[in-house]
Parts: sequence; C-alpha cells; structure tokens
Amino acid sequence: MKWCTCVTLIWIFWTGSVESESPPDPLIVEIPNGKILGLDNGLYYSYESVPYAEPPIGDLRFESPKPYEGHWKDIFNATRPPVACLQWNQFIDDTNKLAGQEDCLTVSIYRPKSTKRSSLPVLVLLHGGAFMFGRASLNGHEYLMRQGTLIVVKISYRVGPLGFVSTGDKDLPGNFGLKDQRLALEWIKKNIAHFGGKPENIVLIGHSAGGASVHLQTLRHDFGQLAKAAVSVSGNALDPWVVQSGARRRAFELGRLLGCGQLHDSVALKKCLKSKPAGEIVSAVKSFLIFSYVPFTPFGPVVEPADAPGAFLTQHPSEVIRSGKFAQIPWLASYTTEDGGYNAASLLEQSNKTGENLIEKLNDRWFDWAPYLLFYRDSFETIKDLDNYSTDIRQAYLGDRRFGLESYWDLQRMFTDVLFKNSVPKALDLHRQYGKSPVYSFVYDNPSVSGVGQVLSKRSDVNFGTVHGDDFFLIFDVGSFRAAIRPDEEIISRNFIRMLEDFSLSDNGTLTFGSCVFEDNVGREHLQHLRITRNGCKNEKFSL
Ligand SMILES: *[C@@H]1O[C@H](CO)[C@@H](O)[C@H](O)[C@H]1NC(C)=O
Ligand SMILES: *[C@@H]1O[C@H](CO)[C@@H](O)[C@H](O)[C@H]1NC(C)=O
Ligand SMILES: *[C@@H]1O[C@H](CO)[C@@H](O)[C@H](O)[C@H]1NC(C)=O
Ligand SMILES: *[C@@H]1O[C@H](CO)[C@@H](O)[C@H](O)[C@H]1NC(C)=O
Repeated sequence: MKWCTCVTLIWIFWTGSVESESPPDPLIVEIPNGKILGLDNGLYYSYESVPYAEPPIGDLRFESPKPYEGHWKDIFNATRPPVACLQWNQFIDDTNKLAGQEDCLTVSIYRPKSTKRSSLPVLVLLHGGAFMFGRASLNGHEYLMRQGTLIVVKISYRVGPLGFVSTGDKDLPGNFGLKDQRLALEWIKKNIAHFGGKPENIVLIGHSAGGASVHLQTLRHDFGQLAKAAVSVSGNALDPWVVQSGARRRAFELGRLLGCGQLHDSVALKKCLKSKPAGEIVSAVKSFLIFSYVPFTPFGPVVEPADAPGAFLTQHPSEVIRSGKFAQIPWLASYTTEDGGYNAASLLEQSNKTGENLIEKLNDRWFDWAPYLLFYRDSFETIKDLDNYSTDIRQAYLGDRRFGLESYWDLQRMFTDVLFKNSVPKALDLHRQYGKSPVYSFVYDNPSVSGVGQVLSKRSDVNFGTVHGDDFFLIFDVGSFRAAIRPDEEIISRNFIRMLEDFSLSDNGTLTFGSCVFEDNVGREHLQHLRITRNGCKNEKFSL
C-alpha cells in the first residue's frame, strides 16, 4: 500500500513538473497537516473523517479539545465515513443503545463537481440528537450535491456525558461538545479554501440540538470571524432543554454509579471518571432516564463559572443577548407547527405486555413524569410549586380531559409550545432589542408522509401533522425517516437550498425563499415570520 501511495506521489510530481498546465488531482488535497485522499462519488468528491482535534481520550477526556497537530507522512485516507461519537442512542430500538467511538473528533467535507464557480460558498452542519446522540453521517447530502452550489462540511462533536458532564466549577466545567464545535469551525475557516470553499462565505446550520448549538455559537461575540450567517432549525439556546441546571448533582451521581464512591471533590471525580471505560460511562445514561428516553437531555450545555479556563458560556444565553455581546451576523430561527410530535409520538407506542400506551399511563404518572417531559424539574424550589405548575399546564392544554389518543393533539401542542415554539418569539424579540443584525424566522407547516412521529410511535394510523425534522430532512435527507419525497417537497427542498446559497453570498443580509423575501425583525413593531406550506410561502405576524 505504501508503494502505491509512493507511485501516486511520484506520478503527481512528474505530471506536475512536465505538464505544468495539467489541473491538480481533485482527489488529493493538501493542508498544513499533509495530503488527504478523497473519494469520487460521481456527482461530488468527499473527504471524510479528517481530524480537527487530538483524540479526546485518555488524559484528554473531559478536557477542552486540543487542535490536531499530527503530520501525515503518507497520504491521509479520507474515504472512511465519520464514526459516531460514543453515545446512548434513543433511536436504537434495543435495551442496549450504546453506539460509536470515543475517538471521533473529525470533519467531513463534500464538494459538488458541477460548478460554474471556481470556489464555492460553504454550508456547515451541526447535527441534532438532544446533545446526547446523533452523528454527522445521519444527515445525507444528496439534495445539496445534486443542486451543486454549496460545499457541505459536517462536524462531529462529543455528546452525552463525555461531551457535557459538569460539576459547575473550573475543574470539570463541561460544554466540551460546544468547544469541539468551535474548534472545528476554526479549522474550517482556516482550511476550507484548500477544498475549493470560500472562507468568507460560510453559513452554519443545525437542527434541534444542532440548531441550539448554532445559536450558542453565535452568542460568542467573535463568531462573525468564523461564519457569515447562521440558521437554527427547530432548536435554539432559549429552549428549556438546552441549558441545564442540576448538572453538578448528576455529575456526582454518575461517579457513584461508576463506583467512584461518595465524592464531593471535582478533581477527584474527574480523576476517577477518567479511569473508567468510556462505554461504562455512556451506558450509565440509562440510570438518568426515568422511563423510555425521558428526559431526552440529561447531559447538555451549562453555564460555566467565569474562572473556568477556556469557558464557552459564562452567562445564561438570554443574559448574553441582553448584554449585546454576541456576534452581529444575520440569524434565522424556525419551528414546525407540530415539532413536539417528537416527544408526544413516542408515548403512543403500544406496550407489548399490557397493550397499554404510555400516553394512558400519563393519567396516573403526570406529577412524576411531566417535570422531566417538559424540563422544569430544576426550576422550582419546592415540590408544592412543582406540582402546582404540573396541574396548571395540564389544565391549560387538556382542561379536565384525560390523556389518550383523543387528546393526543393537545398533548402534542403542549410539547410543541414548551419545547420548541415559545422560545422563537422570545429569542427574536431579544435579538431585535439588543442586536443590530437581521433576525429572520419561518414556521414550516407541511406534513411529510412519514417522519419522526411514525418512527417513534411505530404507528401509521395517527395523523401527526408537521413534526420535528419534516423541513430539515428536505435539506439534509434522512432516509430512515422518509422513504421518498413528494413533488411539492422537492420544490421546497430546492428553495431551501437556494435560500442557504443566497444567505452565504448576499452582502446586504437579505434572505429569500422562493418568491418570498423574509422580513427582518429588527426595528419592527410586530414579530414577523414566513409561513411555508405545500402551496408556497407568505409573510405573517407571529401568532402566539
Ligand atoms: C482507504 O481506506 C479504504 C477503506 O478502509 C480502503 O478500502 C482503501 O484501500 C484505502 N486506500 C488507501 C490508498 O490506503
Ligand atoms: C415488543 O414486541 C416486538 C414484536 O414482537 C419486539 O420486536 C419488541 O422488541 C418488543 N418490545 C419490547 C420493549 O419488549
Ligand atoms: C399555582 O400557583 C399560581 C400562582 O401562585 C396560582 O394562581 C394557581 O391557582 C396555583 N394552582 C394550583 C393548582 O394550586
Ligand atoms: C441584496 O442583495 C441581493 C443579492 O445578493 C440583491 O438581489 C438585492 O436586491 C439586495 N437588496 C438590497 C435591499 O439591496
């Protein structure tokens, strides 16, 4: 194999020197770490699993990522799809949900061939998965490559306890996954030109926890040096599942579960956790779930103390926005009309033993489960206040009716509002008050034939509406959720991709979808968003 590489190198050298006119081999890209071998996929070239950080293993576990410093003597083989970071994956339908590898910090680059431009704008993806699971390769890039106007880069970042365990002090501050994302963005800015990308035209996009991650990245005041615009689809930093309280308690609980004993000292806890097998640490996630995969984010972003070295976030996101010290770049935030189907649908699965649905069990278990389903467990001082809130919210959405298939849509609406929708006007309002750069929004209202709702409930007899991902998976396809797309969805897919291309190229921050021009919310009395349906799009006042 060495010999082969050598011959290739000599050949490149030889043809390069003899025929100086011949174009360079597009499969071989040189970056400061050495040469990279990509793959020809017909429509596009790919360069996968390129390391941007030293492997976060051994003593680097639970530490800020270190920039990758290796130098390849041979060509780096970038033809292997990215591995998932080690995780307890909700979508593995088995009692053992462990998947992935601890050594996972890479970026994967996809460059379309059919291009009129010599260099292309860049779309960078932060995948979703509740900060607990997900992976770069979950989201396909076929639609984007077919359109051929954007280079796509997918970032792998640490998730779950390996990415987010935190004792809330400088010794184990947490947010490692967010720090990974940031380092990867720096890598992309520095290196994307070698792959034919325009470093001045980078747009960051993410879905769900990826959307919240995008928003958190933009809250770093210098993010404008790394990207030109940002898109948060069905997830932003103000969603209640994003910034965690009670992380310290869970960190020490994790230590106890792994046999570290009753520790109270963060340094000792970190030392003990570093000595444990990564698979055991991640498998302990099941002890933090009270039923099914609830709460879906037991380990996630935290507010770090100001003295934490390399801290990523030292104030709550709403405080950061109020301080005005966030990146002044155009930002687009969205939700789908039934986003909360992600959570409600999984309650419809029939239990094998009793034939009962979890949704019916909610009638008895509401006070135990609701604080975890809706992420307010750590928001109240007393059980009385907690129960009071549980009573009120149930009353607000169901009145005196029981939980069941008949009231499914009311429960779904509760999840949509609390987990995905309410944060959007809140964020838009804060951004327009305290920022100067454009803030846009859309709501997507166009159910797919099959999506997350059908997958999680294992049912096709329920109408779920427009659920989490129904829009995003038209940009980054996920075959396992959606077999085929309809003609109206194909048009929407193309419009989304054109919207992203415009966003990356526009110098005036304007944004269009199909024939619609988004209204900027800065300086406007009423919040505006674009409603996107199967029949087209229209601007409207945000209705709460
Ligand atoms: C690169 O890796 C792939 C997949 O493991 C392998 O099939 C291929 O032979 C490797 N290529 C080189 C040049 O080492
Ligand atoms: C329920 O039954 C189905 C089919 O018999 C099986 O595949 C599945 O694993 C079972 N689920 C549980 C949670 O036992
Ligand atoms: C919960 O508290 C609020 C405010 O203190 C009060 O208005 C409401 O009636 C209480 N609800 C219940 C069920 O006690
Ligand atoms: C903004 O730029 C786009 C092209 O990127 C152009 O079509 C549009 O007319 C410009 N709008 C304004 C208000 O200048």
